[in-house]
Formats: sequence, C-alpha cells, structure tokens
Amino acid sequence: MNFQLTDEHKMIKSAARDFAQNMCKPGVIDRDREMKYPTEQIKEMGNLGFLGMMVDPKYGGGGMDTISYVLAMEEISKVDNSCSVIMSVNNSLVCWGIETFGTDAQKEKYLPALASGEKIGAFCLSEPEAGSDATSQTTTAIDHGDHYILNGTKNWITNGKSASVYLVIAQSDKEKGHHGINAFIVEKEWDGFEIGAKEDKLGIRSSDTHTLIFNDVKVPKENRIGDDGFGFKFAMKTLSGGRIGIAAQALGIAAGSYELALEYSLQRKAFGKEISKHQAIQFKLADMATDIEAARLLTYRAAWLKDTGGSYATASSMAKLAASEAAMKHSVEAVQIHGGYGYVKEYHVERLMRDAKITQIYEGTSEVQRLVISRSLLKKN
Ligand code: CAA
Repeated sequence: MNFQLTDEHKMIKSAARDFAQNMCKPGVIDRDREMKYPTEQIKEMGNLGFLGMMVDPKYGGGGMDTISYVLAMEEISKVDNSCSVIMSVNNSLVCWGIETFGTDAQKEKYLPALASGEKIGAFCLSEPEAGSDATSQTTTAIDHGDHYILNGTKNWITNGKSASVYLVIAQSDKEKGHHGINAFIVEKEWDGFEIGAKEDKLGIRSSDTHTLIFNDVKVPKENRIGDDGFGFKFAMKTLSGGRIGIAAQALGIAAGSYELALEYSLQRKAFGKEISKHQAIQFKLADMATDIEAARLLTYRAAWLKDTGGSYATASSMAKLAASEAAMKHSVEAVQIHGGYGYVKEYHVERLMRDAKITQIYEGTSEVQRLVISRSLLKKN
C-alpha cells in the first residue's frame, strides 16, 4: 500500500494552495458578507485548469485523476468554499456527468466551454418536495416526439444564475416511478427558463444559489442524457462521484480550521505562556489532527477506487460522512481555541464554521450517507 503522493500530485496541491492563498484569501471576508460572486477567482480557476480537471484533454480538460481533483479541492476549501463548491459542481457533477454518460455530440458541444470555465454548469435535482427523497420528482418532461416539454421548479441550485448549462432531472412517466425519470442538458437562453429568487445563506455566501423555474421549456431529444428512463440512475451515479468532491471540501474546511487554530495557539499567550503550551489546547489539536487524517484517508481511498475502476458509492458516502462531521466539529473547536477572536470575521474561522454546515446537507445529508452505507452493509449479509 503506497501512501505517497506523486510529484505531479504535489505540484497540483501546491498550485492550488498558491491560488487559494494569493487569489481567494484577499477579499474573501467581504465577498462572503456581501454575497458577491467570485467572478475574477472563477475566471482564474478556468485559466489554471481547475474547472475541468478530470475532463479528457481532447475536450479541453486537464485529463487528471480524481486524487488530483481532491488535492486541489482541499487546498481551495481551506480558504474559500464558495469557489470550491462552484468548482466541485462544475467538475464532478456537470463535466463528469456529460463526459461519462453523454453522446459524442453532447460532449463535443458542451465540454470544451465547461472545462475551460468559459461556461459554468449547474446540477438540478432538488425540488421543494424532493430533497433527500430524490425519486419524488414533480418537474415533468413530457415526450412530444422530437422534443420534450419541461415544466416545474428546482430549488437550492448551486450556480443557479452564474451557470449557462444546466443538467435537469425530471419525471417523464409517473407510472414508472423512478424508472420514468430522465436527465437533460438545458441551456440558459431557452424560452420559458426563468431564474428565480437567490438564497441568503448561512455559509458559502458568495456562491449563487437560486430557485429555477421551467415553463414549457422545449428540450430537443438529442439533449436527453442516456436512454429513456436513465435519469434517476444518472443522478445517483453522478452524485456518488460528486460526494468525493464534497468530502474533499469538508476535509479542506477541517484542515483549514486546524491550520488557523495551530498558528493562533503558537502566538497567543494566556496565563504566562503560549496557549499551545497548555494541555487543554494540545489535546484539542491532537484530536483535530487525528480526525482530519482519518477523513483524508477515506477521501483519498474513495478517489483511488474511482480512479482504479473499483465500486466507490459506499466509499464516497463514508468519506463525505466522516469529512463533513470532522469539518463541523473541528471548525467549532477552531473558534473555541481562538476565543473571542474566533467569533469575529477577521480571523476566518467563524466563516469556516458557517461553511462547514452545508457539507452535512448538500449532495445528500449525513442521514442519506448513513442510508447508503448501511444498505450496502446489510446487502452483504
Ligand atoms: N448508483 C447507481 N444506481 C443507484 C445508486 C448508485 N449510487 N443508488 C441508487 N441507485 C438505483 C438503485 O439501484 C435503484 O434502482 P432499481 O430500482 O432499478 O433497482 C434506484 O436507483 C432507486 O434506488 P433506491 O431504492 O435506493 O432509492 P431511494 O428512493 O430509497 O433513495 C437515496 C435512495 C440514497 C436516499 C437517494 O434518493 C439519494 O441519494 N437522495 C439524496 C439526493 C441528493 O444527494 N441530492 C443532492 C442534490 S444535488 C446537490 O446538492 C448539488 C449542489 O448543488 C451542491
């Protein structure tokens, strides 16, 4: 078993760290406060190849493995989780979904612009009454011969307004249950597609999360992904990979919180010495580092399984569950170590604590991950 990163992996990690520290950190507090989309940062992420990392170079992507993507996600998430969620949805849901299940024509038409960041993608599954219970889709896509007519509302859509390409999951035949669900590539300019309200969120505040409304949107049949009725499986398979990206984001939040807490503890003095010399703080740091390393190993393992052709749905749920729990727990600890300074924006840890919460919710709540894991355990017995 080899736990070493290759030289290429180390280079990618270091490039992502430089980008996060030099391009994301300046202004991150203001962007978060003002819910300002990170336009410049996303443009630069496109230039640096962070938006289509795993896409085949023939479609303009980086052709990298999932480990490289995880390393970059972790470094960027230590600093700016609005940037990293935009990156995650674009890479592991939209680009991967189209590249893995799309037709050659769909790949040629959509991937180059998505991989370069010229266009951003969004993944539209959640609805007002279909969050965890994703089979209960009420958005309809009715077959009209050479096209479908799409009607309905999607909620909490990351990149809702900034995107140009939307993967939309909808019910085409209610009688067939989830076997009647389809997935489509929808373009922003199409008639009847309306961008609704923007959410005012606890965390990841500078990514744009919107309601989307589809009113008799005409979707050409060639924009359906896969065979008729493949949409639910498409969503589940795509989310299995997406959860590795969110595990990496959560890992970045936990590790970023730890790094800030460690640095602070080496400088801040109380009771006549640096607080790092007090056992109460030392034990907190030890627990943080141990949980983070465990989450990191699970996340790398899920990425490695995906890269080597293993089955990774359970592994990615385990990674997401462990990493998001670590992110929540240890961002709170980082605030505690900072004391009063941790409670104000200037020290960054309060933002990481707010960002952590969403990693236990999106791309499947912690309860959904436990469901996926326990079902796979029970199936084996
Ligand atoms: N790969 C392939 N197929 C899968 C699968 C997977 N990982 N998981 C389930 N399936 C298949 C099953 O085999 C089954 O197929 P058959 O009926 O043909 O046998 C079918 O899908 C239905 O599966 P279940 O019976 O397990 O479905 P369920 O209704 O019990 O739900 C669930 C399972 C795990 C709870 C699922 O609904 C789920 O993952 N929910 C959460 C949805 C989610 O993650 N939403 C996030 C929105 S996207 C987002 O957040 C992006 C963003 O903006 C950041």
